[in-house]
Amino acid sequence: MKYGLAFLFAGLLLFSSMAVADQDKGPEKIELDGGSRGKVPLPHRTHQNTLKDCNACHDVFPQKAGAIASLKAEGKLKNKHVMNKLCIACHKTEKKAGKPSGPITCADCHVRS
Ligand code: HEC
Ligand code: HEC
Ligand code: HEC
Repeated sequence: MKYGLAFLFAGLLLFSSMAVADQDKGPEKIELDGGSRGKVPLPHRTHQNTLKDCNACHDVFPQKAGAIASLKAEGKLKNKHVMNKLCIACHKTEKKAGKPSGPITCADCHVRS
């Protein structure tokens, strides 16, 4: 019992120090696999700064490199879901609202190498 409480206390200390530590924001820029249409550069940091909300995207896939590809491989995420329901949907909404927005045409997102 004594030890149990000691462990609980140590755990709480560890947890609170982790919460204070800087959150892992991942890379500034990310290059996504855009299949046959070519790669898609994502300015990750720009989005983090503009949107503030990580879950605007990470509701759909975890904060992990290759997360989209593995969900697709497991059949848990449809091809083009992220592109249509996240990227393009949000850019269109922002544009309609007259706010700064991102690309909505194929060639402005996909680059052929
Ligand atoms: C506009 C969408 C978007 C937003 C908003 C966003 N991310 Fe990401 N993030 C991504 C994408 C896309 C990936 C790469 C996923 C993949 O490789 O399949 C990623 C990957 C990551 C990774 C893993 C990077 C690596 O290489 O291991 C971390 C960590 C991460 N994001 C943290 C955050 C945090 C923290 C926030 C909020 C402050 C945030 N992201 C906001 C889209 C976003
Ligand atoms: C706002 C950026 C954006 C625009 C605009 C865009 N795409 Fe994409 N596209 C992506 C992203 C990100 C992915 C990878 C994630 C996914 O599959 O949802 C992708 C994936 C794809 C894939 C591969 C799907 C797979 O898994 O095999 C194809 C093909 C594709 N896009 C074609 C197009 C075509 C055609 C257009 C124009 C009509 C277009 N894209 C416009 C961002 C975009
Ligand atoms: C929830 C809204 C939202 C989502 C989701 C989102 N974007 Fe954006 N995107 C924005 C906004 C807002 C801007 C304008 C940023 C600015 O000017 O500060 C932007 C700008 C961009 C730009 C142009 C950046 C520049 O420097 O001009 C690119 C490229 C882009 N987005 C790609 C993507 C891709 C690829 C995805 C999907 C993986 C995505 N975005 C998802 C809101 C979003």
